[in-house]
Amino acid sequence: MAREKWGTKLGFMLAAMGSAVGLGNIWRFSFVAGENGGGAFLILYLAFVVLIGVPLLLTEVSIGRKAESDVVGSFKKLAPGTPWHLTGFFGIASAFLILSFYAVVAGWAIYYFWNYVNGSFFSQPEVGYDGAFGQFISHSWHPIGWTALFMILTIVIVLSGVKKGIEAANKIFMPLLAILLIVLAFFSLSLDGASEGMKFLFTPDWSALSNPSIYIAALGQAFFSLSLGMGAMLTYGSYLRKENKLPSATLGIGLMDTFFAIISGIVIFPAVFAFGIDPSSGPPLVFITLPTIFEQMPFGGIIGLVFFFALILASLSSSVSILEVPTAYFMRVFGWTRFATSVLMGSIMFVFGIAVSLGFGIWSGVTPIGDRNILDSMDYLASNIFLPLGGLSMALLVGWYMKKATALESADLSTSPIGSFWYGIIKFVAPILILLIFLNSSGLLQF
Ligand code: PFF
Repeated sequence: MAREKWGTKLGFMLAAMGSAVGLGNIWRFSFVAGENGGGAFLILYLAFVVLIGVPLLLTEVSIGRKAESDVVGSFKKLAPGTPWHLTGFFGIASAFLILSFYAVVAGWAIYYFWNYVNGSFFSQPEVGYDGAFGQFISHSWHPIGWTALFMILTIVIVLSGVKKGIEAANKIFMPLLAILLIVLAFFSLSLDGASEGMKFLFTPDWSALSNPSIYIAALGQAFFSLSLGMGAMLTYGSYLRKENKLPSATLGIGLMDTFFAIISGIVIFPAVFAFGIDPSSGPPLVFITLPTIFEQMPFGGIIGLVFFFALILASLSSSVSILEVPTAYFMRVFGWTRFATSVLMGSIMFVFGIAVSLGFGIWSGVTPIGDRNILDSMDYLASNIFLPLGGLSMALLVGWYMKKATALESADLSTSPIGSFWYGIIKFVAPILILLIFLNSSGLLQF
């Protein structure tokens, strides 16, 4: 059977942007920035996006397009007879780890949407928005039901194969999400005490750089937000036609993703300070902040409703790219149908998701890595370790295993003046930076 292909380059761009822009830009960016001191984190994150992220994005897509296979198969094809393909399993493992908690958080977003549909979040519940959120996520099965709903939606899109649904939806909902975020940013900036939030986000406290955990956190956020290192962009690239040019496409994806992250920071942090919320509250941060902002706004109920709807779509366009990674792999290796494979993979992830959800309730004492709960542990392992390792492997393949001319050609940079610059980054800068950050976070090397 012929491999599926995107209809147009725009279709690919939309799907890849849809993959990049999601909960990572709004939910994860805000709480990781909040936990890591704000401004200094933002600078590091931006530096990593420019220095490692965008060049690696081009690399990852070019590997997929050249090999026309999944994350394991592509390594096998391009480096035959070497153990390189084993690193593809970091990607498969990351997909399981990430979608298991992604679906839980997206389930929370659906629950919020529902509460705006029925009006119950139009005004502060008796226990406050933070109390209502705490009660909800610690419930034994309510959040699991919403997770199930989100996972079913993800599976349905993936099993439909052609990305027509998601491509079309993205065309409408990305601009809508952007407009809503800009409106919210202006509103948030008008709140009393907003300037403190802006200071937090844009005035770096350089002393934060002495904490090794900020480097790994910024690196992990750059990978997570750009959907890098897992093979999602690689798999999407494998459905591209050779004539589609990559450098401008990947730059566009990087810019769009960064725009969404910064704008959501401008929405969240002024409100965090104006309403006296602790910026380091972790994963609940936006779920407490956003309804508090909406409540203060004229037509806030409607804005909340539309906002969470757009957020659900942004999450869906990311989650399908995650589910596609193991689906493409298992379909090829076992010859299963797309239908069976996506249902099976999605169901396994849902079962992991149950554990993630219980980690906010009866299993809140379970802390697999350090003092992190189940969600934080899975996120840490996947985003801060597996994704950068996957990215490292791709950089080494293209920078050291491939011939320079082949590498440049597969990235459409043979005749470009920035070709050598990109190659130098992939060969030296990205691998060295990733290794240094690993050494630093493991305590073996102090910056
Ligand atoms: N980039 C997505 C987000 O920011 O929400 C999440 C994600 C998608 C991470 C795909 C990794 C991935 F491969």
